[in-house]
Amino acid sequence: MDETIPVLTIDGPSGSGKGTISRIVASRLGWHYLDSGALYRVVGHAAARDAADTSDPVAMAALAERTGIRFQTSGDAEPRVLVDGVDATDAIRTETAGAAASVIAAMPAVRQVLLDRQRAFRRPPGLVADGRDMGTVVFPDASCKAFLTASAEQRAQRRYKQLKEKGLSVSMDGLLREILARDARDAERAVAPLKPASDAVLIDTTDVPVERVVERVLALLPESLRL
Ligand code: C5P
Repeated sequence: MDETIPVLTIDGPSGSGKGTISRIVASRLGWHYLDSGALYRVVGHAAARDAADTSDPVAMAALAERTGIRFQTSGDAEPRVLVDGVDATDAIRTETAGAAASVIAAMPAVRQVLLDRQRAFRRPPGLVADGRDMGTVVFPDASCKAFLTASAEQRAQRRYKQLKEKGLSVSMDGLLREILARDARDAERAVAPLKPASDAVLIDTTDVPVERVVERVLALLPESLRL
């Protein structure tokens, strides 16, 4: 891993806005973008595809190792995600896939395999990495770290809108319950739990327009990196 390549980490719970903000920031800077949650979602998706046992850490780690994952980016649009060459962009975004991802993500063997795969995204001229443990575990030496939060209601509303736009049918109450359960699992797990790095800047995005959050995140970078 080349530690001279700058990294900006953006962590936070689901619906905190980190995906949208990270993609815009990466596109403005002309940097690479890592959606680490998509990697965990892909392993969950591959397990369902192969009818593999999601409670078996050895099987899940092997799947994380051998599954082919490719992102196709275009500007600040959501990247297409190819799993073993097949487009699974929409399949990995359902709340069911998110829940499966968070169960698998609690397995240390899976996290260990994905660690190297995530660090391989650090390429010149820089990387914006979004997830739960980007600033704490994967890129502890990152140049700048943001941790986004928002009220649970607003996070559920954002997820509701995203899923509706994809044509998926969801209920607001069910979504709120699932988001709270997933956050609790992510925050309480023993390995790489969801928590801000000690040197992360906390940004509450509740009722804050996207552009304002983008400005606040970009302002964390030294001017030399913003040009
Ligand atoms: O960010 P996203 O909602 O796509 O992540 C799906 C799940 O993957 C999370 O709920 C979490 O359990 C897991 N994850 C993780 N570490 C990351 C990113 C995601 O454990 N860095």
